[in-house]
Order: sequence, then structure tokens, then C-alpha cells
Amino acid sequence: MNANHAHRKTNGSILPCLLTALALTGTLLVGCSSKQSEKQEGQITVGFSQIGAESGWRTANTQSIKSEAEKRGVDLRFSDAQGKQENQIRAIRTFIQQKVDVIAFSPVVETGWQPVLEEAKRAGIPVFLTDRAVDVTDDSLYVSFIGSDFIEEGRRAGEWLAKKMDGKAKIAELQGTTGSAPAIDRKKGFEAFIADYPEMTIIKSQSGDFTRAKGKEVFEAFLRSPEGSEINALYAHNDDMALGAIQAIEEAGKKPGTDIVIVSIDGVHDAFQAILDGKLNCTVECNPLIGPQVFDAVEKYLAGEELPKRIQIEEGVFDENIVTQEVLDKRQY
Ligand code: AHR
Repeated sequence: MNANHAHRKTNGSILPCLLTALALTGTLLVGCSSKQSEKQEGQITVGFSQIGAESGWRTANTQSIKSEAEKRGVDLRFSDAQGKQENQIRAIRTFIQQKVDVIAFSPVVETGWQPVLEEAKRAGIPVFLTDRAVDVTDDSLYVSFIGSDFIEEGRRAGEWLAKKMDGKAKIAELQGTTGSAPAIDRKKGFEAFIADYPEMTIIKSQSGDFTRAKGKEVFEAFLRSPEGSEINALYAHNDDMALGAIQAIEEAGKKPGTDIVIVSIDGVHDAFQAILDGKLNCTVECNPLIGPQVFDAVEKYLAGEELPKRIQIEEGVFDENIVTQEVLDKRQY
């Protein structure tokens, strides 16, 4: 930890240590700094709470965070919340007790973070949001949010589908985890775009929780429903749910990508393969490889630089006209 960071943390863990040391004996000073003496000189400790391993995207994101931390010599305390907000809150409280230099986390849902973020602020520990945003009334509770524009991703999916279907479609929607930022915003962006196309209607919509298994299960139910035979397009909030739905469509004796046009979000390797196989039509990219940007931001902040509240990730759209074996071979995730 450097001098600038110590300066920023004067309301938190460092000030009590210094005051105690000045007022009392040298033995107490050793007690205050013992944790740091276990670390290498200048090493940053980052507590990272990950959502879980619900999708190919998430696995690639975890890998990016871990490998970048290792590359930079960061002492990373990684905690997997297995999809539960209470586990993330518990992990953040543990990081506070451990007096880590920085807390970073990808919030499973948008709401319910204010109290624990206030605890982190009182402890003087800066918090970075990665991948997903939170809904709080005080934006000083976090330093910066590094992640994608989910509304724009939904808008791009709607735009691609409107063009492909000539503005006419009976759409089934597989939503992400209920209450999560990507589920809320991808729906918002898609609906806003198709609002200008009266013959594009969402006739079925339900959460598939961002997983392949749930995507398959929910789509099977869609196909069995009275409206099932009318569905000619699928909008899935992530690739894993689309891949699950593809299995359901094939098992129902239909051709995914032809009988039902499919657009999803993420751009993972398996989705590119499905495009090459003619089963998926388009994936809107959501880049999980944000480890470098996250640790760049953390290091800049600790070095005293002002950061923007929002650091956005550049992304593209990949459809059947673009994806070739060569493009797939170069795909990093
Ligand atoms: O927050 C990003 C989303 O979470 C990805 O689209 C999805 O695959 C993941 O689980």
C-alpha cells in the first residue's frame, strides 16, 4: 500500500493506528502494522466477491480477475457467493474485518447494498463495482463502476432482430436473474427499441436465471403453452439460456436458427460455435475480460488519481454473416 492510499484512508483503519502509536508505546505500533508486515512491501490486498459460476461468461470473468491479480502481484481474497446476495454481504463484512485495501464485487442483484457499503465507507475501504451496478441513494459509497452498458446491449439485440425479421415477430424472451442489473436493463433496452415496431410483440417472457438448465426448462414450457406454436423468435438475456433453449427446440422437433430465430447476449465460445452450426443467429457481445481495467482502476485510485464514476467496456455484435471458423479460433472466451 502506498503513501497516497494511506492518505485517502485517514478516516478509516490507518488513523486510529497512527494516533494510538503516537499516544502510546512502540509495542502497540507493532500490533497495528503486523498484518502489513506479512505482505510484500507495497502489495495491495483486494477482497473480491464474485456472484458464482452460473454461465460461461461468469467463468471467463472469474478467470480474468484471478489471472490479472496474479500478474500484478495483488493479494486477492476471492469469494464465490454461489448466486446468493447474503453470501456476498457476508464476504464484504469479512473483507472489512480483514482490513483489505480495496473491496471489489459484482452484485448479484441491484438493491439491498446500502447498509454494507456504508460499513465499508466507515471503515475507510474503497469499493469498486465490477460488471453490474447497484441501486443506492449515495453514490459516494463506491469509487467507480467498471462494466458494460446493458441497456445498449438490449437495444442492439432489438435492432438486430427487427432487421432480421423485417419488423414482424412473435418473440419469446428468456430473462436473466430477477432483480439483477443485466436482466432489468437488457429488457428495458430491447423493449424501447421494438416499441417502434407494432408487429414485434413479446408473447412469452420469464426468467431462466442466466443458466443453461433453466433456459432449457423454461423454453420447454413456452413451447408446450397455447402460444408455443406461434413463437418465431427468441431473445435470451445471455448465451447460456439460448443454448439451453436450442436443446429444447431440437427436442421438440424444430430447427433452432431457422424455425425460431435466436438472438442472445455475451458472445461466449459456445455461442460462436452455435452460430457456425446454424443454430444461433446472433450474439451481442458483453466482454467478461475486464480484469485489466478493474486493476488499472484500483491502482490508479490508490496512486491518488481521480476516476470517473463509470468506466465502460467496448463491445460488438456478432451474427451469422460475421462468424467464421477463423473468428471462432481467435475468440478468447
Ligand atoms: O452480468 C453479466 C451477465 O451475468 C452475463 O450476461 C451472464 O452470462 C452472467 O451470468
